[in-house]
Amino acid sequence: LTPVNLEFVAKDAVKAVERGDVIIVIDVLRCTSTIITALANGADGIIPVKTVREALAIHREHPEFLLAGEREGVRPKGFSLGNSPLEFFPTKVSGKQIILTTTNGTKALTEAKGGRWVLVGAFLNVEAITDAAFRIAEGENSGISLVLSGKRDQFSLEDYLCAGAIVEGFPAQKIWNSDAALASLLAFRQVCDSLSNIVLRGSHAQYLKRIGLEEDVYFCCKRNRYSIVPYLEGKMIIPLDQFETRM
Ligand code: MLT
Repeated sequence: LTPVNLEFVAKDAVKAVERGDVIIVIDVLRCTSTIITALANGADGIIPVKTVREALAIHREHPEFLLAGEREGVRPKGFSLGNSPLEFFPTKVSGKQIILTTTNGTKALTEAKGGRWVLVGAFLNVEAITDAAFRIAEGENSGISLVLSGKRDQFSLEDYLCAGAIVEGFPAQKIWNSDAALASLLAFRQVCDSLSNIVLRGSHAQYLKRIGLEEDVYFCCKRNRYSIVPYLEGKMIIPLDQFETRM
């Protein structure tokens, strides 16, 4: 049986790395939803970094890369894109490399960097990410870890529900859920018919609503809009199929 583990906050990504699990990093609002949308709309790759300073340093070396991200939900000064998936139009991102820094999501991704298989999940690609993670874990004879980015080391409702949606897609007879993974599944099943309404009650969605970004919440709650599976190869996130065809 494939073990399915769940880590509640970004800093615990290191535990998933230590277990050697296939890691799915989740930050529904909005980092991982943005990464999925950017790649689905033709971006070449995304470089996740922790700080604005690091982002600017890479940009000085590669001024042709786009600078994207947020602090307090808002685009930092001098950046050409924020962290709203709705900004990542094909005309804007197609064929581009994007340097991305966000408060929690890119932190979780950098904490997970030592993992052999680090994938990026959200509701937008839930079916694709579930299939890919299970296939890889079976092939590697490893477990799967769902890593919730959370908010400043606190648990996030929407990331937990997304973990539950992913767990629901695994073949039940072939996996062993930890209690935390099982609980996320039970929570998701309770609310899956009114997902965006429930997510909107969470603290980060409330914050985004207050700063005028409620549309982002609805968009990020759409399930299976994209079939792209973002994969972290070294420092760059690229579509998994691109990596696998090169293997
Ligand atoms: C984060 O990484 O903290 C989030 O993506 C914040 C946001 O832009 O909503």
